[in-house]
Amino acid sequence: MTDYRNIVILTGAGLSAESGLGTFRDVDGIWTKYDLNDVATPDGFARNPELVLDFYNARRENAKGAQPNAAHMALARLEAAYPGVVTVVTQNVDTLHEAAGTKNLIHMHGELARSLCNFCGKRHVWEAPLQVDMACPTCEKSGGLRPNVVWFGEMPYAMDDIYQHLSVADLFVSIGTSGTVYPAAGFVAEASRIGAHTVELNLEPSEGASLFDETIHGAATQIVPAFVERLLSDS
Ligand code: APR
Repeated sequence: MTDYRNIVILTGAGLSAESGLGTFRDVDGIWTKYDLNDVATPDGFARNPELVLDFYNARRENAKGAQPNAAHMALARLEAAYPGVVTVVTQNVDTLHEAAGTKNLIHMHGELARSLCNFCGKRHVWEAPLQVDMACPTCEKSGGLRPNVVWFGEMPYAMDDIYQHLSVADLFVSIGTSGTVYPAAGFVAEASRIGAHTVELNLEPSEGASLFDETIHGAATQIVPAFVERLLSDS
């Protein structure tokens, strides 16, 4: 019988893979088709904004048809039914956690369904394709609208909030991430440092697998519902 008080769950592209959204570093991953320096850095956007906007327009369109899978649904069920606090920190920019019903959610790498203006910093819900000459609805300047997605070299969102949650976590679960991109890849060490039990749920051992107290490997739609049922029956 284990009642955790504060569960922090980090999710990555592997959670949405079975919903038809691509991962980045698997065999046919997104970074095997595009050079991330061209489409996921401020320099890439300055060099060729059309290429960057087209890259995210295609991902936004693809994401529109996606449905949350059994793993997303299980995490929403955990948050609703578990006696302790469940916080999901996602690296994903899709809206599948929200669609499954997760409420306590932090998008540390931003959201594809919002725009960000490089001039005034305002964010707007944005479902349509972004074009270079579009004007920001707030400052009305054009040429600065980009997807509200955190690029390499930029600071992820809500880091103070995330470290606050980690500082009181007694269970840290990492799901569907390769553990290669910081600061997210460092969360397991932070959770271990304060004595949390750490678990990796992933298709295969991630780069950081040895840092976890427990590792469970398999497809997210199989292992995440089973893990959630175990937590709920133990509580
Ligand atoms: N079930 C569980 N895990 C899976 C599945 C699946 N069906 N399919 C793939 N995985 C695992 C892979 O084994 C891999 O370890 O998901 C992980 C995906 O790793 P990445 O493609 O590197 O994605 P992620 O870890 O989310 O990338 C982190 O890098 O490019 C940036 O900003 C981007 O948020 C992203 C960050």
